[in-house]
Amino acid sequence: MKAAFITETGPPGVIRHGDLPDPVPGPREVLVRVRACAINPIDTYIRSGVVAMSLPAPFIVGCDLAGDVVAVGADVAALRPGMRVWGSNQGLLGRQGTFAELAAVDERWLYPTPDGVADRDAAAAALVSITAHLGLVSHAALGAGETLFVNGGSGGVGTAVVQIARALGARVLATAGTEAKRAALLRLGAAAVFDYRRDDLVAAVRAAAPEGVNVYWETQREPAFDQAVAMLGDRGRMVVMAGRDARPPFPVGPFYVKGCSLHGFAMFKADCHEQAAAAADINRWLAAGKLRVPIDRVLPLAATAEGHALQEANTISRTGVLAGKIVVEP
Ligand SMILES: NC(=O)c1ccc[n+]([C@@H]2O[C@H](COP(=O)([O-])OP(=O)(O)OC[C@H]3O[C@@H](n4cnc5c(N)ncnc54)[C@H](OP(=O)(O)O)[C@@H]3O)[C@@H](O)[C@H]2O)c1
Repeated sequence: MKAAFITETGPPGVIRHGDLPDPVPGPREVLVRVRACAINPIDTYIRSGVVAMSLPAPFIVGCDLAGDVVAVGADVAALRPGMRVWGSNQGLLGRQGTFAELAAVDERWLYPTPDGVADRDAAAAALVSITAHLGLVSHAALGAGETLFVNGGSGGVGTAVVQIARALGARVLATAGTEAKRAALLRLGAAAVFDYRRDDLVAAVRAAAPEGVNVYWETQREPAFDQAVAMLGDRGRMVVMAGRDARPPFPVGPFYVKGCSLHGFAMFKADCHEQAAAAADINRWLAAGKLRVPIDRVLPLAATAEGHALQEANTISRTGVLAGKIVVEP
């Protein structure tokens, strides 16, 4: 089969496109013909070596996939050849990745793709929607009628946070870097979207939510705690999930006086049961048309290295080059 793989960590150019032996599914594994996969920032951190994990050799890059079942191991219970599936959390913690024509995946990490949802949309939604669900439901316990602010609403995670918060019945305030991206977030259901380059964000959010927001979701790798605590209302919850090297100052006084709480998590540490529970809700929202993660472009498997360079330019160098996920179709 064709695969995008590495034999050493390094810059995007270490990704090779070539032939590897077809994987053979173990007893609990499902052999998936991968129709679409999506690039996430974590793929680039693992490829570069910034996030060190034990890697199979050669290591096929990538976490997300969508496609159809070709064969199943003897102990697989729920999936059968011909079914359409999607999943995430591969290529992590010693598991092989997904950017290949075929992937052998433990059935506990796979979910049926709803009828009418394209493989590319299921792949684009995979990791970012599970992340948004874990953060909003399991960590911040966002309730219907509450107000959420997401800094970086136009990114992969941000667009999932906006739509899932809306599906949970919350009011959403967000930021984005261009007029077109702000308009897109309004179409996804945000009540107001501010310009993170020009607007006085604390004043704008205070005007839109005079009591303060209930949940502040930070997508940035250098969390702005002073800004967040100024925006939060009493008993507000803040979600942090980026910036491993960040050590920003923290306004202890106003934070505890308001009774706020801080919630950090890494999605890949959630176990398969937690992720499957999130996937069940995500499937309902995908099927109902309440969740559709924007796609910036679709690349062939041979262009995976180019996709990694674009993802790094967007997430690390903050060039704003992407307006949606990069999907790769093997
Ligand atoms: N902990 C976890 O489980 C987990 C899971 C997934 C991702 N992550 C991390 O979360 C971060 C975001 O991931 P992603 O996939 O959403 O990245 P992304 O798609 O590259 O999105 C980046 C976002 O940052 C915004 N942005 C850029 N400069 C900004 C600024 N100065 N102020 C406010 N917003 C700014 C961009 O806005 P414009 O495009 O409008 O300019 C865009 O919305 C990454 O660091 C990733 O590693 C963590």
